[in-house]
Amino acid sequence: MLYIYMEGHDSKYDLFHLSKVFFPHHEIVFIENLEKYKAQGYLLKSSLYKDENILYAKASIYLNGYFHDERVERIDNIDIGRNSSKAITKIGIKKSIYNVFLSIADKKAPWGILMGIRPVKIVHNLLDKEIDEDRILNILVKEYKLDLRKANLIMDISKRQRKYIYPLDGNRFSLYISIPFCPSRCIYCSFPSVPISRYADMIGEYRDRLIWEIDKIGELMSEKQINTVYIGGGTPTAIPAGDLNRIIQRVYLNFGKDNIREFTVEAGRPDTVTREMLNMLKENDIDRISINPQTMNDKTLRIIGRCHDRKDTERAYHLAKEIGFQIINMDLIVGLPYEGREEIIKTLVDIEKLDPENLTVHTLAIKRGSKFERTVNRYSIGDQYTIERMLKETVNYAYRMDLKPYYLYRQKQIMGNFENIGYSKEGMECIYNIAIMEERETIIGAGMGAVSKILLSGKNRLKRVPNFKSMEEYMKRTDELVGRKREVLLLSTL
Ligand SMILES: C[S@@+](CC[C@H](N)C(=O)[O-])C[C@H]1O[C@@H](n2cnc3c(N)ncnc32)[C@H](O)[C@@H]1O
Ligand code: SF4
Repeated sequence: MLYIYMEGHDSKYDLFHLSKVFFPHHEIVFIENLEKYKAQGYLLKSSLYKDENILYAKASIYLNGYFHDERVERIDNIDIGRNSSKAITKIGIKKSIYNVFLSIADKKAPWGILMGIRPVKIVHNLLDKEIDEDRILNILVKEYKLDLRKANLIMDISKRQRKYIYPLDGNRFSLYISIPFCPSRCIYCSFPSVPISRYADMIGEYRDRLIWEIDKIGELMSEKQINTVYIGGGTPTAIPAGDLNRIIQRVYLNFGKDNIREFTVEAGRPDTVTREMLNMLKENDIDRISINPQTMNDKTLRIIGRCHDRKDTERAYHLAKEIGFQIINMDLIVGLPYEGREEIIKTLVDIEKLDPENLTVHTLAIKRGSKFERTVNRYSIGDQYTIERMLKETVNYAYRMDLKPYYLYRQKQIMGNFENIGYSKEGMECIYNIAIMEERETIIGAGMGAVSKILLSGKNRLKRVPNFKSMEEYMKRTDELVGRKREVLLLSTL
């Protein structure tokens, strides 16, 4: 048990998440009265106080009633490249806690006090202020407590991204289309999707509803400039090629084929990749597809509930290359059940032979709502050290394949507090992935579970407008969803 007592501030949310990094398996209890701590387990005391008019943050840690250590941060010494006293104070509180946790926990925290999903955004914000690289690295390492390698990584990624983000254009948008059908449910998945076997009768109806929504979005966005289109899911290639073709054709009709800078379709599950499907995508001039192995170990594939094996992935990949797809992405997950360094090396050796243009390396996240969350105790999963070694191998192999990191994001329930990294060969980066991560452009989502993020003019802020995650509600209330998007789009120009 870890007890937390706060004095002079109320940063409960930040304290909870930072504590979870160091004490992932401990129950965390906030107490308002120190007497509630009965000298059993850990006690963290975090206080904010003034001494001779100078503001300090102090963190003290106790174990079984005995004082262990304390750390103090002087708030006005903190440099985060902006003048928000609220933000600086929060950093001070978190830094003091981070330092005191380091003195007692046997964990590393390579991302320091950063809890957010999009750490690269911090670098963009600082670069926008024309702060030089050395000072940015100093802020990341000294104030946010990042490991120097992580700081260099996000600096490197931000520089690679900037040519795709700038100049900013409030008139520009990307379109995301959700096809929420899957051949089976992978145990780790929490994305909104339905099993195709049970919903086969609804595909036609869903396609028509989706096309209706795409037409309405076409009207709403008629004065704006389309940038990229991404059809994801679910598994878009799980539906018949004819249905997917009609959806793509409708996108072209509404937005103009020549206006679209990049068009991605996630083929996802190799077991859905057929010659007919690939020919249809190629005839539609789709630039990028994803064929996702997750792992090349057949035993793991069976455990995680995917209905394909290594050979299916290789077959689908070779077929796509034969048909002429120039950019193929492959998704991997590090930390799957019973996998260690040997298994990830096997996967990477197989991937290296295929030589894809993009590789996205995820670290397993035990997501709320996934089957895995309910059954995790049945499986053996690598510890933080094993996952770190596996991730190092992915970095080595990416380097050997001439793949450079170009986008990065983190998740709350990610194993070992690591990250997901998208790699690409030079000039073949997915612009949509950068847009969705860095949030400098409006994204309009169509289909069940799709989320629109609308940029509010002059505010460097997005308003989230989610579509329903349930098939039944999406089908019945599509007009309501278009209405919500219309409202926020109107607001965004004010
Ligand atoms: C939106 S999912 C859909 C991709 C596609 N349907 C497929 O399964 O191949 C995108 C990627 O996120 C990753 N992913 C999904 N759930 C995950 C989890 N719980 N932990 C880590 N990565 C996950 C997988 O690599 C997956 O390919
Ligand atoms: S991981 Fe992909 S294929 Fe598996 S259930 Fe989720 S969306 Fe479907």
